[in-house]
Amino acid sequence: MSPHRSPRFKNPRALHNYQGRSCSIAAVGSYVPERILTNFDLEKMVNTSDAWITERTGVQQRRLAAADEFTSDLAAKAARRAMERGRISPEQIDLIIVATITPDTPFPATACWVQEKIGASRAAAFDLEAACSGFIYGLEVGQQFIMSRTYETVLVIGAEKLSSIIDWTDRNTCVLFGDGAGAVVLQHRDGAHGVLTACLGADGRRADLLSLPGGGSRQPASSRTVADRLHYLRMSGKETFKSAVTAMCTAAQESLRRCELDIAQIACIIPHQANQRIINAVAERLGARPSQLFVNLQKYGNTSAASVPIALDEAVSGGRIQRGDLVLMVGFGGGLTWGAAIIEW
Ligand SMILES: CC(C)(COP(=O)(O)OP(=O)(O)OC[C@H]1O[C@@H](n2cnc3c(N)ncnc32)[C@H](O)[C@@H]1OP(=O)(O)O)[C@@H](O)C(=O)NCCC(=O)NCCS
Repeated sequence: MSPHRSPRFKNPRALHNYQGRSCSIAAVGSYVPERILTNFDLEKMVNTSDAWITERTGVQQRRLAAADEFTSDLAAKAARRAMERGRISPEQIDLIIVATITPDTPFPATACWVQEKIGASRAAAFDLEAACSGFIYGLEVGQQFIMSRTYETVLVIGAEKLSSIIDWTDRNTCVLFGDGAGAVVLQHRDGAHGVLTACLGADGRRADLLSLPGGGSRQPASSRTVADRLHYLRMSGKETFKSAVTAMCTAAQESLRRCELDIAQIACIIPHQANQRIINAVAERLGARPSQLFVNLQKYGNTSAASVPIALDEAVSGGRIQRGDLVLMVGFGGGLTWGAAIIEW
């Protein structure tokens, strides 16, 4: 196989001097906590209804981590599942990247807690913060280490305990989110194209649309920040919705263009699982058929950086993605940030 072209697509990365090197997802795994919070449960907590939530978002239930279950626990469980499937030992892992907006602690990095939990004592470890686009950012960062031959095995995890930053009295936000984690192991695979391209973007001018105002150097934790409820996620829903649709379409289209692909050639589209209406609008603009989309947000809500890898894991285990299939992942989040990636599975 030519490293530059397949009969089906162009591999933009192979045009650089990578000498046959590629970066594939060798294994994927995910974990969601046991406790289920349904829309009917939420009806008892805030002024909302199952009908409103289902119609406006598509979410029916979400998972909540236990009080003594932290982001690193969710991440470690997802990572262990991916490692078992790929028969990867902890000692093989060179680098752990955890994408999260709900770290166990501001520092050390959640990736360090994970390193200890999975026993990957050789691995370097750091966190990456790109909100709901975090996993796609992490994939793009991780693949650079594989392609440059710096590392052989990189673990990229998207993990969130969003329930720890949700204002459970705010109906505008509390109905949308959930907890969970997804993980992939990146490695070179002979004869495979793997990650063909990734388009990342950001717009800091719209940082205020989606944020956690308190607890950083701007507004350090104090009795005032607690009283003002600044340690909870804040969001302008309508503006975020519009920006999400535009950014996801732009990133997906640019990725397709770089690989000289038509959307019809994509076997499975894994969108960030924020809202069914956002996914429908993106699919319509891209000219995608509903059967190309993988959606599981009805079960988990928006799990931010975990949403794409959890969906990827379920799509793979459910047989929706087969070896050689082209997969488009596309996400959007606070920052604002966005990203799309195309991989040959
Ligand atoms: C949040 C979101 C579901 C709201 O849907 P919407 O159609 O934009 O709804 P609106 O904001 O216009 O609100 C409509 C009404 O429903 C009300 N409402 C909001 N949340 C509600 C809830 N959980 N239950 C019942 N009513 C609710 C609003 O208060 C508003 O009432 P009003 O007209 O009396 O002011 C939608 O904007 C959205 O999904 N935005 C993107 C959020 C997102 O994905 N964020 C993460 C990105 S990674």
